[in-house]
Amino acid sequence: MSNLYNDLAEVYEAMYATFIDYKLEYELYESFLDKFNKKKLLEIGCGTGSLAKHFIRNNYEYCGLDMSADMLKIAKEKNPNTPFVQGDMRSFKLANQIESVLITGRTISYLVENNHVLSSFKCIHNVLTEKGLFCFDFIDANEFIPYVNKTNSITHKAEFKNKNYIRKSIWEPNILSNWHLNWSSTYYEEQQGNLIEIGKDSAKVRAFTKDEILLFLNLTNFKVNDIFKRKTYAFPTYMVIAEKVI
Ligand SMILES: C[S@@+](CC[C@H](N)C(=O)[O-])C[C@H]1O[C@@H](n2cnc3c(N)ncnc32)[C@H](O)[C@@H]1O
Repeated sequence: MSNLYNDLAEVYEAMYATFIDYKLEYELYESFLDKFNKKKLLEIGCGTGSLAKHFIRNNYEYCGLDMSADMLKIAKEKNPNTPFVQGDMRSFKLANQIESVLITGRTISYLVENNHVLSSFKCIHNVLTEKGLFCFDFIDANEFIPYVNKTNSITHKAEFKNKNYIRKSIWEPNILSNWHLNWSSTYYEEQQGNLIEIGKDSAKVRAFTKDEILLFLNLTNFKVNDIFKRKTYAFPTYMVIAEKVI
């Protein structure tokens, strides 16, 4: 599990508040839930609960799931009295079925092997009620892989509560078995022009082609209602809106 979601959870919280407009993210997911008339949801990869607060404010019956205790600690502080469950999306159950499941913030990138994707989609199928809604986004391999193959670093900057954060990332594409890469980042705080290292992180992450995702959904009994391209702070992604079929 990536160090970013454990020891560096507070740094994640600070930096991603700059990278992601969670209100806009919420409005997008809300439009899907509204269209399919769903008011109850499970958010997988809920992280520090930045989307959760929008769902709760707008009277959704919300539950968050994440693998990291440190991310969930912040999520719970921000959203007291809200159910958050620690679990692995590759193998989880819920006490009761639910009418919609979201995997947010490209968390699907951590399903690096085909069997991880299949087991996760099967768990989601099991926890969904009939015609349950399943939405998620993924990094588009057709754009991402050529990019990471010809470049090898990127720097992200963020300002949060009067502190300047810098993340310098490098990667090693590992595309022999599927579209994944080994990603390493060093995090710094800028103090009076000096960079003070505050942590390191590395993770194996995966991009997908649209056809791969359509096949995974087909194999796990989901019908696709819509799939469209969308730009995010970092990389071009697709958004998927699917429905459980028996
Ligand atoms: C990129 S962050 C996204 C967090 C949040 N959705 C956001 O947009 O800020 C990915 C999250 O997925 C969680 N995660 C990674 N692998 C997971 C797994 N197998 N099961 C559940 N959560 C996982 C991490 O702990 C982290 O909180």
